[in-house]
Amino acid sequence: MSWSIRGKGETRAGEAFQDILARRVARRSFLKGAFVGGPLLVIGSSLLRPRDGEANDYRDTLQFRPVALDDQDRVLVPDGYRAQVLIRWGDPLFVGAPAFDVHNQSPAAQVRQFGFNCDYVGFYPLPHHRSRNSRRGLLVVNHEYTTPGDMFPGYAQGSPTRNQVDVELAAHGVSVVEVERHPQRGWQYNQESRFTRRITGETEIEITGPAAGHPLLQVSYDPGGTRVRGTLNNCAGGKTLWGTILTCEENFNQYFANRNLVADPVAQAIHTRYGLPGGASDRRWENFHDRFNLAVEPNEPFRFGWVVEIDPYDPNWVPKKRTALGRFKHEGATMTLARDGRVAVYSGDDERFEYMYKFVSRRRIRPRREENFDLLDEGTLYVAKFRDDGTGEWIPLIGGHGPLAAWSREEVLINTRGAADLVGATKMDRPEDIETNPANGKVYCVFTNNTRRGVGANPGPDAANPRANNRHGHIIELTEGRNDPAAETFTWEIFMLCGDPGNPADAPVFFAGFDPAQVSPISSPDNIVFDRRGNLWVATDGQPSTFKKNDGLYAVPVEGEDRGFLRQFLSVPVGAETCGPEFTPDNHTLFVAVQHPGEDGGLTNPASRWPDGDVARPSVIAVTKSGRGSPVIGG
Ligand code: FEO
Ligand code: CA
Ligand code: CA
Repeated sequence: MSWSIRGKGETRAGEAFQDILARRVARRSFLKGAFVGGPLLVIGSSLLRPRDGEANDYRDTLQFRPVALDDQDRVLVPDGYRAQVLIRWGDPLFVGAPAFDVHNQSPAAQVRQFGFNCDYVGFYPLPHHRSRNSRRGLLVVNHEYTTPGDMFPGYAQGSPTRNQVDVELAAHGVSVVEVERHPQRGWQYNQESRFTRRITGETEIEITGPAAGHPLLQVSYDPGGTRVRGTLNNCAGGKTLWGTILTCEENFNQYFANRNLVADPVAQAIHTRYGLPGGASDRRWENFHDRFNLAVEPNEPFRFGWVVEIDPYDPNWVPKKRTALGRFKHEGATMTLARDGRVAVYSGDDERFEYMYKFVSRRRIRPRREENFDLLDEGTLYVAKFRDDGTGEWIPLIGGHGPLAAWSREEVLINTRGAADLVGATKMDRPEDIETNPANGKVYCVFTNNTRRGVGANPGPDAANPRANNRHGHIIELTEGRNDPAAETFTWEIFMLCGDPGNPADAPVFFAGFDPAQVSPISSPDNIVFDRRGNLWVATDGQPSTFKKNDGLYAVPVEGEDRGFLRQFLSVPVGAETCGPEFTPDNHTLFVAVQHPGEDGGLTNPASRWPDGDVARPSVIAVTKSGRGSPVIGG
């Protein structure tokens, strides 16, 4: 059975979305009431039945009753499930670390406590990464950014204290904590674990790969350009096949000040392309740390915007910024194995009209995990071009060739956006998580929204980004050539055009051909994960602004009769974003990071008091199934 709304590339000027759809949606989608949106809704009711002989040997494995969009300050899960707060911002990670005290924060305390704004969550089973242990493991959690007005009583925007800035640096980065599921108490973290680690905005990190040591990466405190202090704005991430984590530096531009004072025109131009502030930063870290002041250290930003590899099983391992994967606002980085044993890593650059990338290693994976610790230092970086006929191309970004004839390999990696601009890649609607579904081998690519698409002088809709003013985002399903992640060509189709099917203003919406009248409304998809049956779970970041409702977590089958039958599983508190999500290997537990509850509400009159009825604290929760029946959440 074949259906699609694969595109036809750049849409012809003035062509309405419904016209594009009408040319491309196969008959089966009409039969199922595939989308809500326009003239194509005028379909005779006699057609709304299955085709004769269409077998249905697929059973829906998602058994929960969906929750509705919520606006209360709580976590909501379906009947029969329970959500437990596992760890909160400020919780002491080590024996003897101070308890959380919002009135008495210090960098020394914060560096021994769980960081702020938890995002990516990875579960690494103990005793080793190949074990399937689902009751004890390491939880690796990103701390993306800080909102100091929600952290410090009396914080003065624009004139922070040194203590506040240093607490913020210590609240960034990554936490590694050991967690265990106890029969009575549920999930607990272990302060006595030898694996516990905090990596912050000050931790020493090695720069590796082709761009390491390049003059643009050299600064006064590191003239060799190979050692950097800290990792910042770690958004999503992924696991390597050898059990390390890839944590991704996203909106690093916001930490730096005074681009206008950079003397080198090349550095100045690249900083402009990456959106660094011309004058003061909002955070004013430059008031206390010269490395954030481009008038003093014009190259420091080149040392951010990378994918960072960390071995959670070795607390002494020096984290590595892997320059071969390119420099941009990395949302995440997810790995899969190519047919010949090389690895492929997908990564989106999360900004409006930015690109989708893939890295393919030069060498093949080896059996011993330590043998792969430099595998990501050599390979080819590609950028995606979506064609209108449903095909696509991974364009290699190789300095010295074609449009990049005048570029060195290092320049391509440091100014990856600039290189991608020259080769004709497709400008997307904010690429977020990109992951391979182990059940069907297809790659699911999430685009969260882009309200500037088709507005003013900005690029208009194209086949892969088919809606002007894309308020609600969409998901593309990509099939690599020969089903090989190392392929240089692919085919693709739209899997979902998000929105509220009950709201005509959101039209057109599309749910892989499923009847939109039966699905949950969804907006601003961001992080994804697959359960063991291959169902796609989608976390959102943006429903408080688009729906005036809380963000949530949704599940949707990608195969069979219920392909596209999206239902909401969970809702997070007021102002929060849904992050993670992550299953234990047995799918009995689902971890979700609740990021920025009540964001920017301040401490005086907060929008959220979750989870304790007091100061709002970003936290990781563990969701399990209670009562009778299968304890498995994911299918
Ligand atoms: Fe940090 Fe693209 O979300
Ligand atoms: Ca994200
Ligand atoms: Ca993910």
